[in-house]
Amino acid sequence: MTQTQAESPARLKKEAGRRRTFAIISHPDAGKTTLTEKLLLYGGAIHLAGSVKARRAARHATSDWMKMEQERGISVTSSVLHFDYAGFRLNLLDTPGHQDFSEDTYRALVAADSAVMLLDNRKGVEEQTRKLFAVCRRRRLPIFTFVNKCDRAGEDPLQLLDDVERDLDIKCYPVTWPIRDGTRFLGVLDRASGKVHLFEKGADHGQSRTEAQIVDANDPVLLDLLPSGALETMEEEVALLDAVGATMDEAAVRSGELSLTFFGSALTNFGVEPFIKHFLAHAPPPASRETSTHEIIQPTDPEFSGLVFKIQANMDPKHRGQVAFVRIVSGRYEPGMTVNIPRTDQRLRLAAPQQLMARERVSLEEAWPGDVVGVVDRGSLRVGDSLSTQPGVEFTGMPRFSPEHFASVKMEDAMKRKHLDRGLRQLAEEGTIQLLYAESLTGPIPIVGAVGMLQFDVLLARLDAEYGVTARLEPLPYRVARWVVGPEARMRAVGTAIGRKLVEDAGGKPMVLFETEWSLQRAAEGEKELRFHDVRP
Ligand code: G4P
Repeated sequence: MTQTQAESPARLKKEAGRRRTFAIISHPDAGKTTLTEKLLLYGGAIHLAGSVKARRAARHATSDWMKMEQERGISVTSSVLHFDYAGFRLNLLDTPGHQDFSEDTYRALVAADSAVMLLDNRKGVEEQTRKLFAVCRRRRLPIFTFVNKCDRAGEDPLQLLDDVERDLDIKCYPVTWPIRDGTRFLGVLDRASGKVHLFEKGADHGQSRTEAQIVDANDPVLLDLLPSGALETMEEEVALLDAVGATMDEAAVRSGELSLTFFGSALTNFGVEPFIKHFLAHAPPPASRETSTHEIIQPTDPEFSGLVFKIQANMDPKHRGQVAFVRIVSGRYEPGMTVNIPRTDQRLRLAAPQQLMARERVSLEEAWPGDVVGVVDRGSLRVGDSLSTQPGVEFTGMPRFSPEHFASVKMEDAMKRKHLDRGLRQLAEEGTIQLLYAESLTGPIPIVGAVGMLQFDVLLARLDAEYGVTARLEPLPYRVARWVVGPEARMRAVGTAIGRKLVEDAGGKPMVLFETEWSLQRAAEGEKELRFHDVRP
């Protein structure tokens, strides 16, 4: 341990304690970009919101991957945004959506300590939210729900909460409750303080910070400000929540069983600031992590340790370097420090420390548990690697997620078979795609699998640029994959039925591919001796 590390336990405790590292989980169009921008606005990281449109246009650009990276700029490269609020340091991890949805989206949740579930008030829980929620649930992450777009009429809030609770099997505790006059949104009641925050559409379309007018719920002036019917409805609904709704339970919030729920409108800024305040009061600081030898590493452990949760290769086409995104688990990060990589038994000097803030890469002097640093290296790191100044620290818990898109790989030039095989193997090891093998009379046939289609674009671009292989993908009809555990004969029976395929992953674990969710359900119900897993067992 270096002198500086030994001297600063109090500083380490303080810095770790004020970090809040989280991700937003939502379905495309729920307003994630808008909310992110408003969080930055209130955190003082930007002063005028409003580049959302430009960004949305850029997000739809495809073409080759490297160019895509540059064009998409903020949506792909800004893997983490950080800002300060009321003495806290907030780290917001990006969960790419739309066609950027990939295994990285899930991996961001493995690096987060809590999640904000953003819902459109007309749509409630949608498909992508459901998938991301499942990952949060497995990690028992605390989840905060923000019901967005309340400035326009949506589903009845009681019904919406009921749907969320049933769909996700979670309890919701509304911290704020919307006040409406028919379909018109008037404000929210903060249940803890008994204050009403009145909604007013700002003159500048939410570009700058706004302060809502706040009135005590018992103040008679409210009767002049709001239609009496709206107040009565609000009182009835809140009485109902008090009587039969979930009760506030801090332990249940921490274990992800109870979601604190907020109503607001990111576009008009309404409800954003109260949300940040309540979020900071309840979201957990950086968590401890377990190692493969069942040791628990606390954030305040003086030795530095971190987990690689994402690799971005070839951001600069002139260099073959890559940036590994490291979530710091414990200790203080110093520029130039040397760490152990237990997977390869190598030591690595973290030479070009960077914190990635929007498009600029800012060189860092130090970083603390909960922070994410970008480490530039020449390919020695992989997703899931642990780094530590102490030897032998290997974290568990960077799972492989079951792919949802499958394709076989076709090559223009059969002479390049070996290059292709090597490329596929290495890119699979890096976590770019998953490599599966199907049996055939001529030997195993490679199949590539991905969580999102973007991973396939990246695969083809990198096979071409780095391995000199021009390949094509032929889509396969499977949509669902499950790792399967049980007697081999039963696996074969299930995996050779029509619409299914038995394969092995790159590590030799058996998987079954299904064309439909329904086909999986039938197999799961009919085969009591088999266990199906959506994360690698
Ligand atoms: P995403 O990142 O989750 O995909 O969503 P994004 O923030 O891009 O928002 C999707 C659409 O929803 C945008 O409208 C955005 O303006 C709108 N939106 C976000 N928050 C609110 C809100 O609180 N209230 C209302 N009424 N709308 C909201 P768009 O028409 O698709 O794009 P634009 O032309 O406004 O940029």
